[in-house]
Amino acid sequence: MKKITRKIVVTGAAGFIGFHLAHTLLEKGWRVVGIDSITDYYDPRIKQKRLAILKKYPKFRFYRTNIAKYSALETILRKEKPDEIVHLAAQAGVRYSLSNPWAYVESNELGTLNIFEAAKRLELPRVLYASSSSVYGLNEASPMKETDRTDTQISVYAATKKANEAMAHSYHHLYGTEMIGLRFFTVYGIWGRPDLALFKFVKNILAGKPIDVYNRGKMKRSFTHISDVVAGITALLERTPRHRNEVYNLGGAEAMPLLDFITLIEAELGKKAKKHLMPMQAGDVKETVADCSKAHRDVGFAPKTSMQKGVAEFVAWFRENERFLLTLREPKQ
Ligand SMILES: NC(=O)c1ccc[n+]([C@@H]2O[C@H](COP(=O)([O-])OP(=O)(O)OC[C@H]3O[C@@H](n4cnc5c(N)ncnc54)[C@H](O)[C@@H]3O)[C@@H](O)[C@H]2O)c1
Repeated sequence: MKKITRKIVVTGAAGFIGFHLAHTLLEKGWRVVGIDSITDYYDPRIKQKRLAILKKYPKFRFYRTNIAKYSALETILRKEKPDEIVHLAAQAGVRYSLSNPWAYVESNELGTLNIFEAAKRLELPRVLYASSSSVYGLNEASPMKETDRTDTQISVYAATKKANEAMAHSYHHLYGTEMIGLRFFTVYGIWGRPDLALFKFVKNILAGKPIDVYNRGKMKRSFTHISDVVAGITALLERTPRHRNEVYNLGGAEAMPLLDFITLIEAELGKKAKKHLMPMQAGDVKETVADCSKAHRDVGFAPKTSMQKGVAEFVAWFRENERFLLTLREPKQ
Protein backbone atom coordinates (compact mmCIF):
# COMPACT_ATOMS: atom_id res chain seq x y z
CA MET A 1 0.00 0.00 0.00
CA LYS A 2 1.29 3.48 -0.84
CA LYS A 3 2.23 5.41 2.26
CA ILE A 4 0.25 8.64 2.57
CA THR A 5 2.45 11.61 3.35
CA ARG A 6 1.08 15.05 3.89
CA LYS A 7 2.32 18.56 4.41
CA ILE A 8 1.15 20.06 7.69
CA VAL A 9 1.71 23.56 8.97
CA VAL A 10 2.33 23.46 12.73
CA THR A 11 2.12 26.87 14.36
CA GLY A 12 3.95 27.12 17.67
CA ALA A 13 6.48 24.54 16.40
CA ALA A 14 9.21 25.87 18.70
CA GLY A 15 6.83 25.47 21.65
CA PHE A 16 6.40 22.40 23.82
CA ILE A 17 3.43 20.64 22.17
CA GLY A 18 4.19 21.93 18.65
CA PHE A 19 7.74 20.60 18.83
CA HIS A 20 6.62 17.12 19.87
CA LEU A 21 3.84 17.00 17.27
CA ALA A 22 6.21 18.17 14.50
CA HIS A 23 8.79 15.59 15.59
CA THR A 24 6.26 12.74 15.47
CA LEU A 25 4.91 13.79 12.06
CA LEU A 26 8.46 14.04 10.66
CA GLU A 27 9.22 10.58 12.03
CA LYS A 28 6.15 9.34 10.13
CA GLY A 29 7.66 10.79 6.95
CA TRP A 30 5.26 13.73 6.67
CA ARG A 31 6.40 17.20 5.66
CA VAL A 32 6.14 19.84 8.34
CA VAL A 33 6.24 23.61 7.99
CA GLY A 34 6.88 25.12 11.39
CA ILE A 35 5.82 28.66 12.23
CA ASP A 36 6.76 30.42 15.46
CA SER A 37 7.71 33.94 16.50
CA ILE A 38 9.83 32.57 19.39
CA THR A 39 8.41 34.86 22.04
CA ASP A 40 10.41 35.50 25.19
CA TYR A 41 7.63 34.60 27.66
CA TYR A 42 9.97 31.83 28.81
CA ASP A 43 13.64 31.53 27.89
CA PRO A 44 13.84 31.22 24.07
CA ARG A 45 17.00 29.13 24.38
CA ILE A 46 14.90 26.03 25.07
CA LYS A 47 12.86 26.82 21.93
CA GLN A 48 16.09 27.01 19.92
CA LYS A 49 17.13 23.61 21.28
CA ARG A 50 13.80 22.09 20.24
CA LEU A 51 14.13 23.66 16.78
CA ALA A 52 17.68 22.33 16.39
CA ILE A 53 16.24 18.80 16.76
CA LEU A 54 13.55 19.45 14.14
CA LYS A 55 15.98 21.07 11.71
CA LYS A 56 17.84 17.76 11.37
CA TYR A 57 14.90 16.47 9.33
CA PRO A 58 15.09 17.40 5.61
CA LYS A 59 11.27 17.50 5.47
CA PHE A 60 11.11 20.29 8.06
CA ARG A 61 10.97 23.93 7.12
CA PHE A 62 10.78 26.77 9.62
CA TYR A 63 9.53 30.36 9.42
CA ARG A 64 10.00 32.80 12.25
CA THR A 65 6.99 35.02 11.97
CA ASN A 66 4.31 36.58 14.13
CA ILE A 67 0.90 35.14 13.22
CA ALA A 68 -0.72 38.38 14.39
CA LYS A 69 0.66 39.97 11.19
CA TYR A 70 -1.62 38.76 8.46
CA SER A 71 0.11 39.40 5.16
CA ALA A 72 3.41 37.69 6.02
CA LEU A 73 1.44 34.69 7.23
CA GLU A 74 -0.59 34.42 4.04
CA THR A 75 2.56 34.76 1.92
CA ILE A 76 4.16 31.80 3.72
CA LEU A 77 1.07 29.66 3.38
CA ARG A 78 0.66 30.46 -0.33
CA LYS A 79 4.29 29.53 -0.92
CA GLU A 80 4.13 26.28 1.05
CA LYS A 81 0.64 25.11 -0.02
CA PRO A 82 0.06 22.85 3.00
CA ASP A 83 -2.69 20.23 3.17
CA GLU A 84 -3.86 21.58 6.51
CA ILE A 85 -2.91 23.45 9.67
CA VAL A 86 -2.47 22.45 13.28
CA HIS A 87 -2.58 25.75 15.12
CA LEU A 88 -0.83 25.58 18.49
CA ALA A 89 0.88 28.98 18.66
CA ALA A 90 -0.44 31.04 21.53
CA GLN A 91 0.47 33.11 24.50
CA ALA A 92 0.04 30.37 27.10
CA GLY A 93 -0.11 30.50 30.90
CA VAL A 94 -2.85 31.76 33.20
CA ARG A 95 -0.79 33.88 35.58
CA TYR A 96 0.91 36.11 32.99
CA SER A 97 -2.53 36.98 31.56
CA LEU A 98 -3.14 38.98 34.75
CA SER A 99 -0.18 41.26 34.09
CA ASN A 100 -0.09 41.34 30.28
CA PRO A 101 -3.56 40.61 28.88
CA TRP A 102 -2.65 42.34 25.59
CA ALA A 103 -0.17 39.59 24.67
CA TYR A 104 -3.06 37.11 24.88
CA VAL A 105 -5.45 39.09 22.74
CA GLU A 106 -2.73 39.68 20.15
CA SER A 107 -1.47 36.11 19.77
CA ASN A 108 -4.57 34.15 20.66
CA GLU A 109 -7.40 36.22 19.22
CA LEU A 110 -5.86 38.21 16.35
CA GLY A 111 -3.34 35.44 15.62
CA THR A 112 -6.03 32.75 15.56
CA LEU A 113 -8.34 34.89 13.44
CA ASN A 114 -5.48 35.23 10.93
CA ILE A 115 -4.95 31.47 10.83
CA PHE A 116 -8.67 30.84 10.25
CA GLU A 117 -8.89 33.57 7.61
CA ALA A 118 -5.80 32.31 5.76
CA ALA A 119 -7.16 28.74 5.83
CA LYS A 120 -10.37 30.03 4.29
CA ARG A 121 -8.60 32.04 1.56
CA LEU A 122 -6.39 29.07 0.70
CA GLU A 123 -9.43 26.80 0.75
CA LEU A 124 -7.82 24.37 3.20
CA PRO A 125 -10.25 21.65 4.27
CA ARG A 126 -9.43 21.71 7.98
CA VAL A 127 -7.81 23.50 10.90
CA LEU A 128 -7.05 21.79 14.20
CA TYR A 129 -6.53 24.41 16.89
CA ALA A 130 -5.51 24.40 20.55
CA SER A 131 -8.16 25.23 23.09
CA SER A 132 -7.81 24.47 26.79
CA SER A 133 -9.46 22.84 29.77
CA SER A 134 -9.56 26.36 31.22
CA VAL A 135 -12.63 27.12 29.06
CA TYR A 136 -14.67 25.13 31.61
CA GLY A 137 -13.99 27.94 34.10
CA LEU A 138 -16.28 27.89 37.11
CA ASN A 139 -18.15 24.83 35.86
CA GLU A 140 -17.89 22.45 38.80
CA ALA A 141 -18.81 19.22 37.05
CA SER A 142 -16.04 16.68 37.31
CA PRO A 143 -14.99 15.02 35.09
CA MET A 144 -15.57 17.68 32.47
CA LYS A 145 -17.40 16.79 29.28
CA GLU A 146 -17.50 18.64 25.98
CA THR A 147 -21.27 19.05 26.41
CA ASP A 148 -20.80 20.97 29.70
CA ARG A 149 -21.39 24.72 29.62
CA THR A 150 -18.37 26.91 29.05
CA ASP A 151 -19.63 30.41 29.84
CA THR A 152 -17.64 31.30 32.94
CA GLN A 153 -13.93 31.69 32.11
CA ILE A 154 -11.96 33.17 35.01
CA SER A 155 -8.86 34.49 33.24
CA VAL A 156 -8.17 36.44 30.08
CA TYR A 157 -6.16 33.44 28.88
CA ALA A 158 -9.22 31.18 29.20
CA ALA A 159 -11.45 33.83 27.62
CA THR A 160 -9.21 34.00 24.53
CA LYS A 161 -9.43 30.20 24.18
CA LYS A 162 -13.23 30.36 24.42
CA ALA A 163 -13.17 33.14 21.79
CA ASN A 164 -11.19 30.80 19.51
CA GLU A 165 -13.92 28.18 19.78
CA ALA A 166 -16.56 30.81 18.98
CA MET A 167 -14.58 32.04 15.94
CA ALA A 168 -14.08 28.45 14.79
CA HIS A 169 -17.84 28.01 14.84
CA SER A 170 -18.29 31.14 12.72
CA TYR A 171 -15.71 30.07 10.14
CA HIS A 172 -17.21 26.62 9.96
CA HIS A 173 -20.72 28.02 9.58
CA LEU A 174 -19.75 30.58 6.94
CA TYR A 175 -17.26 28.62 4.85
CA GLY A 176 -17.61 24.94 5.79
CA THR A 177 -13.99 24.58 6.92
CA GLU A 178 -13.63 21.61 9.28
CA MET A 179 -12.70 23.03 12.69
CA ILE A 180 -11.36 20.75 15.40
CA GLY A 181 -10.73 22.32 18.81
CA LEU A 182 -8.32 20.51 21.14
CA ARG A 183 -9.01 21.04 24.83
CA PHE A 184 -5.72 20.09 26.46
CA PHE A 185 -5.45 19.27 30.17
CA THR A 186 -2.10 20.13 31.89
CA VAL A 187 0.33 18.58 29.43
CA TYR A 188 3.73 17.47 30.72
CA GLY A 189 6.83 15.73 29.40
CA ILE A 190 10.42 16.18 28.30
CA TRP A 191 11.33 19.50 26.64
CA GLY A 192 8.37 20.84 28.62
CA ARG A 193 7.55 24.42 29.50
CA PRO A 194 9.70 26.03 32.21
CA ASP A 195 6.65 27.93 33.52
CA LEU A 196 4.68 24.76 34.35
CA ALA A 197 4.55 22.94 37.69
CA LEU A 198 6.61 19.84 36.91
CA PHE A 199 9.54 21.82 35.51
CA LYS A 200 9.48 24.36 38.36
CA PHE A 201 9.14 21.70 41.06
CA VAL A 202 12.02 19.56 39.77
CA LYS A 203 14.24 22.62 39.29
CA ASN A 204 13.60 24.01 42.77
CA ILE A 205 13.77 20.69 44.62
CA LEU A 206 17.14 19.94 43.01
CA ALA A 207 18.38 23.40 43.96
CA GLY A 208 17.09 23.00 47.55
CA LYS A 209 14.68 25.91 47.03
CA PRO A 210 11.04 25.92 48.23
CA ILE A 211 8.21 25.19 45.80
CA ASP A 212 5.00 27.24 45.70
CA VAL A 213 2.00 24.98 46.29
CA TYR A 214 -1.17 26.84 45.40
CA ASN A 215 -4.47 26.41 47.23
CA ARG A 216 -2.37 24.60 49.86
CA GLY A 217 -2.21 21.64 47.46
CA LYS A 218 -5.99 21.14 47.29
CA MET A 219 -6.08 20.87 43.49
CA LYS A 220 -6.57 18.02 41.08
CA ARG A 221 -5.43 17.70 37.49
CA SER A 222 -5.74 15.28 34.57
CA PHE A 223 -2.01 15.51 33.90
CA THR A 224 -1.51 14.44 30.30
CA HIS A 225 1.71 12.98 28.98
CA ILE A 226 2.88 14.65 25.80
CA SER A 227 3.01 11.37 23.87
CA ASP A 228 -0.70 10.81 24.58
CA VAL A 229 -1.56 14.33 23.43
CA VAL A 230 0.42 13.85 20.23
CA ALA A 231 -1.26 10.47 19.62
CA GLY A 232 -4.66 12.16 20.00
CA ILE A 233 -3.82 15.00 17.60
CA THR A 234 -2.36 12.55 15.07
CA ALA A 235 -5.47 10.35 15.22
CA LEU A 236 -7.64 13.41 14.56
CA LEU A 237 -5.37 14.42 11.65
CA GLU A 238 -5.62 10.98 10.10
CA ARG A 239 -9.41 11.22 9.89
CA THR A 240 -10.70 12.45 6.52
CA PRO A 241 -12.11 16.01 6.83
CA ARG A 242 -15.92 16.09 6.55
CA HIS A 243 -16.86 19.67 7.38
CA ARG A 244 -17.17 18.97 11.10
CA ASN A 245 -17.04 21.55 13.85
CA GLU A 246 -16.04 19.71 17.01
CA VAL A 247 -14.13 20.15 20.25
CA TYR A 248 -12.36 17.28 21.98
CA ASN A 249 -11.04 16.86 25.51
CA LEU A 250 -7.56 15.35 25.33
CA GLY A 251 -6.75 14.48 28.93
CA GLY A 252 -4.41 12.06 30.63
CA ALA A 253 -4.62 8.50 31.81
CA GLU A 254 -4.87 9.46 35.50
CA ALA A 255 -6.26 12.44 37.39
CA MET A 256 -4.09 13.20 40.42
CA PRO A 257 -4.24 15.49 43.45
CA LEU A 258 -1.38 17.99 43.44
CA LEU A 259 0.11 16.71 46.72
CA ASP A 260 0.33 13.15 45.31
CA PHE A 261 2.02 14.58 42.24
CA ILE A 262 4.62 16.23 44.47
CA THR A 263 5.14 12.97 46.40
CA LEU A 264 5.78 11.20 43.10
CA ILE A 265 8.37 13.79 42.09
CA GLU A 266 10.07 13.58 45.50
CA ALA A 267 10.28 9.79 45.22
CA GLU A 268 11.80 10.02 41.75
CA LEU A 269 14.33 12.67 42.83
CA GLY A 270 15.05 10.94 46.13
CA LYS A 271 14.70 14.31 47.79
CA LYS A 272 11.99 16.04 49.85
CA ALA A 273 10.42 19.29 48.67
CA LYS A 274 10.27 22.35 50.90
CA LYS A 275 6.62 23.22 50.38
CA HIS A 276 5.57 26.83 50.46
CA LEU A 277 1.81 26.56 50.94
CA MET A 278 0.05 29.39 49.13
CA PRO A 279 -3.56 30.55 48.67
CA MET A 280 -5.39 29.86 45.43
CA GLN A 281 -3.84 31.70 42.51
CA ALA A 282 -6.16 34.25 40.88
CA GLY A 283 -7.50 32.94 37.58
CA ASP A 284 -6.72 29.32 38.36
CA VAL A 285 -9.22 26.48 38.62
CA LYS A 286 -9.25 23.95 41.50
CA GLU A 287 -9.99 20.87 39.54
CA THR A 288 -9.61 20.05 35.84
CA VAL A 289 -10.40 16.42 35.24
CA ALA A 290 -11.15 15.23 31.72
CA ASP A 291 -13.82 12.94 30.40
CA CYS A 292 -12.28 11.78 27.12
CA SER A 293 -14.99 9.36 26.02
CA LYS A 294 -15.79 11.46 22.94
CA ALA A 295 -12.22 11.30 21.59
CA HIS A 296 -12.16 7.61 22.46
CA ARG A 297 -15.39 6.97 20.59
CA ASP A 298 -14.45 8.98 17.49
CA VAL A 299 -10.73 8.25 17.04
CA GLY A 300 -9.85 5.60 19.63
CA PHE A 301 -8.02 8.07 21.92
CA ALA A 302 -6.71 6.04 24.88
CA PRO A 303 -3.97 7.72 26.94
CA LYS A 304 -1.45 5.13 28.07
CA THR A 305 1.33 6.82 29.99
CA SER A 306 1.11 6.46 33.76
CA MET A 307 2.18 9.38 35.93
CA GLN A 308 4.86 7.18 37.45
CA LYS A 309 6.41 6.52 34.04
CA GLY A 310 5.98 10.08 32.77
CA VAL A 311 7.50 11.70 35.86
CA ALA A 312 10.41 9.23 35.89
CA GLU A 313 11.13 10.01 32.24
CA PHE A 314 10.99 13.76 32.92
CA VAL A 315 13.31 13.57 35.91
CA ALA A 316 15.83 11.46 33.94
CA TRP A 317 15.73 14.00 31.09
CA PHE A 318 16.11 16.91 33.51
CA ARG A 319 19.14 15.33 35.18
CA GLU A 320 20.71 14.63 31.79
CA ASN A 321 20.28 18.27 30.71
CA GLU A 322 20.63 19.84 34.15
CA ARG A 323 23.59 22.07 33.32
CA PHE A 324 21.66 23.74 30.53
CA LEU A 325 18.21 23.73 32.15
CA LEU A 326 19.38 25.35 35.36
CA THR A 327 20.70 28.33 33.39
CA LEU A 328 17.28 29.15 31.88
CA ARG A 329 15.97 32.47 33.09
CA GLU A 330 12.72 32.59 35.03
CA PRO A 331 9.53 32.81 32.90
CA LYS A 332 7.70 36.13 32.83
CA GLN A 333 4.88 36.55 35.31
N1 LIG B 1 0.80 22.77 27.78
C1 LIG B 1 -0.41 22.72 28.32
O1 LIG B 1 -0.60 22.15 29.41
C2 LIG B 1 -1.59 23.34 27.62
C3 LIG B 1 -2.86 23.21 28.23
C4 LIG B 1 -3.95 23.76 27.59
C5 LIG B 1 -3.80 24.42 26.37
N2 LIG B 1 -2.56 24.56 25.81
C6 LIG B 1 -2.45 25.25 24.52
O2 LIG B 1 -1.70 24.43 23.63
C7 LIG B 1 -0.93 25.25 22.75
C8 LIG B 1 0.53 24.88 22.82
O3 LIG B 1 0.99 25.09 24.16
P1 LIG B 1 2.46 24.81 24.64
O4 LIG B 1 2.37 24.22 26.00
O5 LIG B 1 3.20 24.12 23.57
O6 LIG B 1 2.97 26.32 24.81
P2 LIG B 1 4.36 27.00 24.35
O7 LIG B 1 4.37 28.37 24.95
O8 LIG B 1 5.48 26.09 24.69
O9 LIG B 1 4.22 27.09 22.78
C9 LIG B 1 3.51 28.11 22.11
C10 LIG B 1 4.42 28.68 21.03
O10 LIG B 1 3.69 29.70 20.33
C11 LIG B 1 4.59 30.74 19.98
N3 LIG B 1 3.84 31.98 19.77
C12 LIG B 1 3.20 32.73 20.71
N4 LIG B 1 2.65 33.80 20.13
C13 LIG B 1 2.94 33.73 18.80
C14 LIG B 1 2.66 34.55 17.68
N5 LIG B 1 1.95 35.69 17.80
N6 LIG B 1 3.13 34.18 16.45
C15 LIG B 1 3.84 33.03 16.31
N7 LIG B 1 4.15 32.23 17.33
C16 LIG B 1 3.70 32.56 18.57
C17 LIG B 1 5.56 30.83 21.17
O11 LIG B 1 6.81 31.41 20.78
C18 LIG B 1 5.68 29.37 21.60
O12 LIG B 1 6.85 28.77 21.08
C19 LIG B 1 -1.22 26.69 23.15
O13 LIG B 1 -2.26 27.17 22.32
C20 LIG B 1 -1.70 26.57 24.58
O14 LIG B 1 -2.53 27.64 24.94
C21 LIG B 1 -1.45 24.02 26.41
